[in-house]
Amino acid sequence: MQLYHKPMIICAVYSSKGGVGKTAAAVNLAYVAAHGGQKVLLCDMDSQGSASYYYRIKPKKRFNRARLLAGEAESYIRGTDYPGLDLLPAHFSFRKLDVALNDRGIKTGGSALVELFAPLAREYDVLLLDCPPNLTVLSEHIIVAADFIIVPVVPTTLSILALDQLLKLMRKLGCRRDKLLAFFSMVEKRKSMHADIMRKYSDHPIFLSSAILYLAEIEKMGITRRPVGAGTGRSLAASYYQALWQEIELRSGS
Ligand SMILES: Nc1ncnc2c1ncn2[C@@H]1O[C@H](COP(=O)(O)OP(=O)(O)OP(=O)(O)O)[C@@H](O)[C@H]1O
Ligand SMILES: [Mg+2]
Repeated sequence: MQLYHKPMIICAVYSSKGGVGKTAAAVNLAYVAAHGGQKVLLCDMDSQGSASYYYRIKPKKRFNRARLLAGEAESYIRGTDYPGLDLLPAHFSFRKLDVALNDRGIKTGGSALVELFAPLAREYDVLLLDCPPNLTVLSEHIIVAADFIIVPVVPTTLSILALDQLLKLMRKLGCRRDKLLAFFSMVEKRKSMHADIMRKYSDHPIFLSSAILYLAEIEKMGITRRPVGAGTGRSLAASYYQALWQEIELRSGS
């Protein structure tokens, strides 16, 4: 008999930069966490709907931004092909989530998203949010609501700049700095800039030691439409996401 149920953790995979591997990470980390026995909800917060596409899931007809903000998310959650893993699909109307959330304001230490997600704690151990590439009101709500902000960083100067901007925003919002967990993404070791930047930041407390290499296997998810670990045979990419999730769990104390 389980007497104590661990609280649900909310992990937002976020970066203001586009195309850095957020969706690839969210989709694969959600799969790894569920495969490891946790009850996981992947929330596709990006109106592009890439995470929903990878899992071959479309939103129900009546779902939209207004229903999400009315606290009805639970009714629109869909099961995936994988045990322990559900998905809240994105809807095209999510592109205006910003405008809607702007009306609700952001309080110190509080966000409308916290209230929206709270009922899901009955059902899930982990909420993984795949976030759009913005630095907007929605980003602020996500940053405040998340227990951990998982940031893929391609080892380039501009990605480091984006990370600095995020830290600045977190300070402004009164967030703990230690909830930011960055990892190097789409790493190409033969590129000297990648190697130099990784060397420079290897001991930085914000960075996890796990990194995700640039691998054709991950790129091909657009064709296979399944997480890298779900195919037959051994997957190098899957082992990288597995190591990344283990490190996130360790840091989160879950
Ligand atoms: N480690 C990787 N190796 C090779 N290709 C990758 C890797 N990670 C992501 N990709 C590919 O790069 C592209 C962008 O990745 P992804 O969609 O995950 O980025 P994103 O940060 O979510 O983008 P957006 O900001 O548009 O939401 C996709 O085509 C994806 O398949
Ligand atoms: Mg994405």
